Amino acid sequence: MKLELPRSSKNWISLIGATIAVTALFMIIFLFAITTFFSGQPIYLGLIIYMLLPGFLIFGLILIPVGMLITRKKITKHKNILPFIDLNLKRHRNAVAVFISGTALFFLLSAIGSYEAFHYTESVEFCGTLCHDVMKPEYDAYQHSSHARVACAECHIGTGADWFVKAKISGLHQVVAVMTNSFSRPIPTPIANLRPARETCEQCHWPQKFYATKHRQETHYLNDEENTEWDIILNMKLKTNNGEVDPDKGIHWHIDPDVKIEYITTDERKEQIPWVKYTNTSTGEERIYNSEEDPLELNDSLSYKINTMDCLDCHNRPAHSYKPPAFFINDAIKSGLIPVELPEIKSLSMQICGEEFTSTDSAMQYIEKTVKEFYESDYPEVFESDSLLIVKAIKGIQDKFKVNIFPEMNVRWDAYPNHIGHLEFDGCFRCHDDQHTSDDGQVISRDCNICHSVKAQGTPGNLEMASITGSIDFRHPGDVEEDEWKDTNCTECHTGLDP
Ligand code: HEC
Ligand code: HEC
Ligand code: HEC
Ligand code: HEC
Ligand code: HEC
Ligand code: HEC
Repeated sequence: MKLELPRSSKNWISLIGATIAVTALFMIIFLFAITTFFSGQPIYLGLIIYMLLPGFLIFGLILIPVGMLITRKKITKHKNILPFIDLNLKRHRNAVAVFISGTALFFLLSAIGSYEAFHYTESVEFCGTLCHDVMKPEYDAYQHSSHARVACAECHIGTGADWFVKAKISGLHQVVAVMTNSFSRPIPTPIANLRPARETCEQCHWPQKFYATKHRQETHYLNDEENTEWDIILNMKLKTNNGEVDPDKGIHWHIDPDVKIEYITTDERKEQIPWVKYTNTSTGEERIYNSEEDPLELNDSLSYKINTMDCLDCHNRPAHSYKPPAFFINDAIKSGLIPVELPEIKSLSMQICGEEFTSTDSAMQYIEKTVKEFYESDYPEVFESDSLLIVKAIKGIQDKFKVNIFPEMNVRWDAYPNHIGHLEFDGCFRCHDDQHTSDDGQVISRDCNICHSVKAQGTPGNLEMASITGSIDFRHPGDVEEDEWKDTNCTECHTGLDP
């Protein structure tokens, strides 16, 4: 049986349009089937299925009526007839049927397609790998974080249509920035449309429920010839408070439902906090602390935004934490990736990782060359007898470098401050510096025992230990005198790299 259609439909433009549309449709179905039945979706396939091919499909579909209109114009050039549909004519009936069923099919497919496309643009693969070089640091660090199984969108895009629209609009900007190569390196933070922390984090972490004292053992290696091991064991006081019996406040006291901490910061990176306000929301008690060292000028306060403290004021790098060399080299030695037997390997590795590089490749070559040359000239006997250890050390440094430092994007530990501690960035000491004072003479304390208690410290064979419930005074490793660290912030000397 031959399908009879209006004469105007018989033209090259409509035919080409129909061919494009049908081909695109079949390719979509074919590729969709492939991605559904075979796991391990290649990321670019999604881009083709959900963005490129539908574009062709729609283009083809538009060509059909365009062709028909042009042809109709030609046929009816001299007659003054308006377009009409006469259902008594078989050709018209067929055309209407084709149009209605085609439209219905198109809407059905679009519904499925946009649902899939929505999921696709929310997927970790889309966010993390599509713009390969741009997102590499964030994606790599994310994969090594505790949140490697939490989708990017869970933290970056909120629920609800308004967040969705905001995210897609800023997403468009980003696509343009990538295509025109005009994005900044590193990508700046804070990012404007991060979903409020209390909405995201608290879906999985529940403030009242999960904070017990956390035992924390840190292994350090000193910068001496033997890479002397130095252990520090801390009990982190994570609770919101310890209840009626022991009313000490713990670290998560700041997010206790009765507590509201507000602050003003004078820089983008939120490293300077001259003004802090505490409010007890159930009793209405208030206290304002001003920095003595660096006070906020009164008329300034009008122009600064007042922030309310939440999870991200401490946990600002939950998924993308680029570790400083001091941390990742200790870690690599501890796990045996870098052999501790090699003399001076700790200080040598730190020195290497502190260099500035333009690309990962040049860094890899530099690491290999420098380590070899160092042992060849300074320890020729080690270079002769322990060449295998040297090869291992090179690989160890290279592997750690690659997941923490990204020269192409100018990303390394100091690109973004990490507010959780006080060693490399002031973090807690932004407020807890014994310098933020209230009118009634209270300070935000820097006492070494309010946030953690030192349970043990020293070299492994010679650990100084606290009693089960007690704590000992911190003793600084190496030859740093007590008066040098007691009143100075750790960041005066510790930058993540040296000492
Ligand atoms: C657990 C929550 C969480 C997850 C999961 C997460 N992020 Fe982030 N992301 C953050 C936070 C918090 C920041 C930093 C906000 C700040 O410092 O202002 C951030 C910052 C970023 C930035 C800005 C640059 C930077 O390094 O600060 C990019 C880009 C980014 N994330 C991409 C991603 C991608 C891609 C994924 C998934 C592969 C992802 N994020 C998963 C929480 C998350
Ligand atoms: C979808 C669930 C989910 C969301 C949302 C989430 N987390 Fe987590 N978080 C986890 C899981 C799972 C772990 C790993 C627990 C483990 O390893 O024992 C974890 C671990 C952590 C840890 C301890 C380990 C570490 O890396 O220090 C912190 C801190 C943390 N999350 C903070 C946050 C913050 C802050 C946010 C909000 C920006 C957040 N989480 C959002 C599921 C989530
Ligand atoms: C006056 C400068 C100075 C100050 C201030 C200082 N440190 Fe240090 N710190 C050093 C030096 C120098 C070393 C290296 C010692 C060595 O390796 O022999 C070091 C090493 C360390 C180490 C072992 C490092 C590693 O690479 O693994 C820890 C832990 C440490 N310091 C903690 C602290 C803390 C905590 C504070 C703040 C309360 C602090 N330091 C303040 C100078 C300082
Ligand atoms: C005042 C700073 C601060 C605030 C605010 C804060 N935390 Fe923490 N949190 C910490 C510190 C410090 C640790 C211990 C980190 C460590 O030992 O590495 C911690 C640990 C955690 C852990 C890991 C617990 C464990 O047993 O390992 C989770 C989960 C966590 N926080 C979630 C949150 C969430 C969710 C919020 C917001 C509702 C939040 N935190 C707010 C400072 C804070
Ligand atoms: C924006 C300022 C600010 C920052 C940043 C901050 N805190 Fe606090 N914190 C306060 C204030 C204000 C108090 C209440 C001081 C008081 O009156 O005792 C407090 C109290 C505490 C207490 C209870 C102290 C006590 O007297 O028992 C602990 C523990 C604590 N903070 C830990 C931390 C840790 C850990 C960090 C870093 C991860 C941190 N804080 C970062 C403002 C801050
Ligand atoms: C306001 C809370 C707070 C105060 C006060 C505080 N610390 Fe800490 N400290 C922390 C937190 C939080 C961490 C964990 C940081 C992290 O998760 O990386 C930490 C970590 C440490 C570490 C382990 C570092 C490492 O990487 O091994 C040492 C050592 C330390 N603190 C010493 C001190 C000393 C000494 C003082 C007194 C001058 C002090 N702290 C005061 C919150 C505090």
